[in-house]
Amino acid sequence: MMEDDMGTMECSALDAEAERILRLNDRGGYTVPTDGLYPYQWNWDSAFAALGFAAFDIDRAWTEIETLFTGQWDNGMVPHILFHRPDPGYFPGPEVWGTEDALGRGGARLPSSGISQPPVAASLAWRIYRADPAAGRDRLAALFPKLMAYHRWVMGARAESGAVAITHPWEAGRDNAPDWDEAMAGIDPQGVEPYTRRDTGHVDARMRPTKEDYDRYIWLVQFAKARRWDEVAIAAESPFRVADPTLTFTALRSARDLREAAAMIGEDSGEIDDWIARLEEGAAGLWNDAIGSYDAKNLRSGNFAGSLSNASFLSWWGGLSDDRPRAALTRILTISDYALPSYDPTGPKFDALRYWRGPIWAVMNFMAANGMAEQGLTAEAERIRTDTARLIAENGFAEYFSPKDGTPAGGGTFTWTAAVWLAWASPSRGKV
Ligand code: SER
Repeated sequence: MMEDDMGTMECSALDAEAERILRLNDRGGYTVPTDGLYPYQWNWDSAFAALGFAAFDIDRAWTEIETLFTGQWDNGMVPHILFHRPDPGYFPGPEVWGTEDALGRGGARLPSSGISQPPVAASLAWRIYRADPAAGRDRLAALFPKLMAYHRWVMGARAESGAVAITHPWEAGRDNAPDWDEAMAGIDPQGVEPYTRRDTGHVDARMRPTKEDYDRYIWLVQFAKARRWDEVAIAAESPFRVADPTLTFTALRSARDLREAAAMIGEDSGEIDDWIARLEEGAAGLWNDAIGSYDAKNLRSGNFAGSLSNASFLSWWGGLSDDRPRAALTRILTISDYALPSYDPTGPKFDALRYWRGPIWAVMNFMAANGMAEQGLTAEAERIRTDTARLIAENGFAEYFSPKDGTPAGGGTFTWTAAVWLAWASPSRGKV
């Protein structure tokens, strides 16, 4: 089915369903990614939820981001999960993270995880502002210093290589991507306290990370908790530190959007200009000629991952006009029935249903395609947008989809898939 073939009735039924999902997952000021599997407020999920709300309730959109920043640490970090209300259906919960230890040392104000996530909030806040400048001006101006503090933290704590590093695979948002395989193999998960996974009680285990990965996820949480979430100690001692294209390109894009916001508010942007220059230099260091794309780099070994992923194609979203990734993009689009797979379908680690080792994610498609459209890759961007619309129309608002046949996977009635539909993929919307 092509986008043009989608009937008006079908389109408005899907618009209504997407709105219903955002309301359904609204817990009062914040939105859960989906009931059961993810019962808290996640950082980048929430920023995308705001983008979705902006299509029909601009006030609620701003509230979403404002609630996210109530969990900002004193050092500027915005955690990847805010545990607003206890929920035993999720593991690892607040007691496992133990971030109250970081209180008074730049740490947590609310129960939260101790790591962050791709910093998309500034970019999406800027889009929400543009959708209705009159409604957004004061809200954006109030958020601006908090967004600046967040990015100051990103640059100070994670950008020692110019590119932005993660200290845990969850921080990239792409939990089990092949990008981290070498660094994960370097961890001996001895001493992990016994735990019970909750995710596989909600979702088929074939669609989730393996036990080997999970042991290491928990080991890394225990490692950082033992250092009382001290960034300097973690940076010096952890075996896991990987420069990530997701964080690097989203930070770069957010910095550019913050510069626009600064101009609108009348703030100086010299500090932001420095960030952009450093990030551009760091991003250049993630180019891997061997695979003809941007790639993750293990900062402990100096090795590239050799992983052609959907994050590789965020360079245009990051504002780079580099044409080199185009050949790899053309190949991926040619061999894929649905775009963009999260890992090269011809690669040795491809797994069509296993989370970030193959499946398609609507939010990555949104960022990749919007970046491409801005840089003149109009046909590629439109292909990705129509594929996203087709996946949702045929398979519902799933967490992710098989790139082979569109099989819906992971959680259902998923917030960010609904948001991306409303803000961009729906033929009737695309205003935000
Ligand atoms: N995505 C992780 C989970 O599956 C945490 O961010 O729980």
